[in-house]
Amino acid sequence: MKPMQRHAAAGSFYHLAGVPLAGCACNGLACFAASAGNLGHWAKACQQSPPVYCLGKCYAAPSDADHDISPHIAVHSRRSVLLDNVRTGGVRGLAEYQQCGGGVARLAALSMPPHDVVRLIDNAQLRGRGGAGFPAGRKWEAMAVQHAHRKYLVINADEGDPGAFSDRLLLEGDPFRLMEAATIAAHATGATHGYIYVRKEYPDAARVLANALLEARAAGWLGVQFDLECVIGEGSYLCGEETSLLNALEGRRPEARMRPPQVTEHGLFGLPTLVQNVETLCTVPWIVTHGADAFASLGFSQSRGTKLLSLNSLFRRPGLYEVEFGIPLERVVDELGGGLRRGQLKGVMVGGPLAGIVPPALLGTRLGYEEMQAIGCAVGHGGVIAFADDTPLAAIVEEVFRFGARESCGKCTPCHLGTPRLEAMFAPVTQDVPRRGSDDAAQCEALLEALAATSLCGHGRGLAEFARALQTHYGEEWSACFR
Ligand SMILES: Cc1cc2nc3c(=O)[nH]c(=O)nc-3n(C[C@H](O)[C@H](O)[C@H](O)COP(=O)(O)O)c2cc1C
Ligand code: SF4
Repeated sequence: MKPMQRHAAAGSFYHLAGVPLAGCACNGLACFAASAGNLGHWAKACQQSPPVYCLGKCYAAPSDADHDISPHIAVHSRRSVLLDNVRTGGVRGLAEYQQCGGGVARLAALSMPPHDVVRLIDNAQLRGRGGAGFPAGRKWEAMAVQHAHRKYLVINADEGDPGAFSDRLLLEGDPFRLMEAATIAAHATGATHGYIYVRKEYPDAARVLANALLEARAAGWLGVQFDLECVIGEGSYLCGEETSLLNALEGRRPEARMRPPQVTEHGLFGLPTLVQNVETLCTVPWIVTHGADAFASLGFSQSRGTKLLSLNSLFRRPGLYEVEFGIPLERVVDELGGGLRRGQLKGVMVGGPLAGIVPPALLGTRLGYEEMQAIGCAVGHGGVIAFADDTPLAAIVEEVFRFGARESCGKCTPCHLGTPRLEAMFAPVTQDVPRRGSDDAAQCEALLEALAATSLCGHGRGLAEFARALQTHYGEEWSACFR
C-alpha cells in the first residue's frame, strides 16, 4: 500500500493531502439530507476546512470519521451474486474465503483460453456498475486485442458519489473476491500490472486490502503473471472519473483527458488499460462459476444481473441491499427502506449528485439504465438518498453545485467558473446578495446550456443533467427560486 507519488504542481489539487481524518464530520449529500436530525453536527461539517465528502457511512448520517455502526445488509434478489460473504460478517482471510467456495472461479477461468473468458462476460451482458453502464465484455475485448509490452488493470475504488457505500463494504468484507476477479480479468485481457485506487476516506478498506494483497501474493495468486498494488487517494471526487484517475496514478494533476483515444488503447502511461469499478469486478467470479445465462436471467430489459443499492439514513431501514434490475423504485422506498423516518418523501436521488431526483409520482419507474434515463435520471453508482419534504429544492441545488464547484478540475470554463455562480444563485437571499429574478433565471439557463454543451467530462455534463431533471420534475419550485 503506498500513497500517491506525484509532481509537486499536482499537490494543490487534493483537498485531503496531509489532513488527518480523525474527528472529521462528513459533509456529503446523505448527511445534508439527514441534517435536520442533528443540526449541530451538520454545522460542524460545514465549518470544517477542508470539507470531507463522503465517508461512506450514509446509513448512519449525519456521520463522522470516529463512529461507525454495522449497516443492515440484505439480499432482495432471486440469487445473491455479491453479498453472500459480506452479509455474514465478512471474509477477510484467504483460507476462509476458499472454505466458502472462493477461488474455484479463478482456477476455472485460468484453464480457459482468454478469449472464452471475454465471451463469457460479454454473454452475461454485464454492464459497468461505476456509473456509465458500459458493457464490460466490449471493454475486455477492446483491451484483449491490444498488443503492448505491458497492459494495465485499474480498479476504481474511489466511490466518490456521496450516498454510495457499496464498494466500501465489498472492499472491507470480501477483499479476496476482488483479488480473484482481478486475476480473471488480467488473464482474459492480458493485463500484467494492476492498481487499486482507494479513496483516503476509506481507511479500513485500505487496511483490509493491504493484508489481502500480502496473502494473495504469498499464495501465488499475484506476483507471477500479474501483480496488483494499492494506491490511496488524497481527497478528490474527480479522481473517480477514469481519465483523471489515470492522471492521478501517473502523478500528474488529475484533470480529465480528451477522448478518443479510449483508455483501452492509450491509458495509463500511454499503454492499454482496463478501468473497472469494484462492484463490476466482484460479479465476475459468480459469472464464471454459474455461467453467463444464470447471470443474464436475473434483471430485466438491457440491465441484467443484480445491483447494490445504498440506502441513506432517512429511510427507516437504511443499509446495503442487493436487488435485481427491474425492481420498481417504490418497492425500494417502501419495502426495502420501510418508508421515511421523518416527514413526507420529496424525492429520491438515485446514483449520486449527477443523477437527478426522482419525484414520488415517478416511483413506478423500474430500476434500469435506459428506464432511468428516460425520466432524466440515472442508475449511477446506486446510492439512494431520500429527501424529506421539509428540505427546500433551492437548498438541495445549492448543495449539489457547492460540491460540483469544489470538485471541478478547472479545465472547462463553464464548469470551473459557472458552477460557483450557480451555487450562489440558489443560496438563501440576504441583503448583500439579493435575487435578480429573471436576470438570474436567464443566466442560469445560459450556464446550464454551456455546461451541457462544452464540458469535457461527465462532471460538468452531469451537473447540467441534474439541474434539467429538477426543472422537469419540480418545475414550480424551481421557478420560485428566481422570484
Ligand atoms: C465525475 C465522475 C466521477 C466518477 N467517479 C467514479 C467512482 O468514484 N467510482 C467508479 O467506479 N466510477 C466512477 N466514475 C465512472 C468512471 O469514469 C468509469 O466509467 C468507471 O470507473 C468504469 O468502470 P465500470 O465500467 O466498471 O463502471 C465517475 C465518472 C465521473 C464522470
Ligand atoms: S467538466 Fe469540469 S471536471 Fe470535467 S474536465 Fe471540465 S472542468 Fe474538469
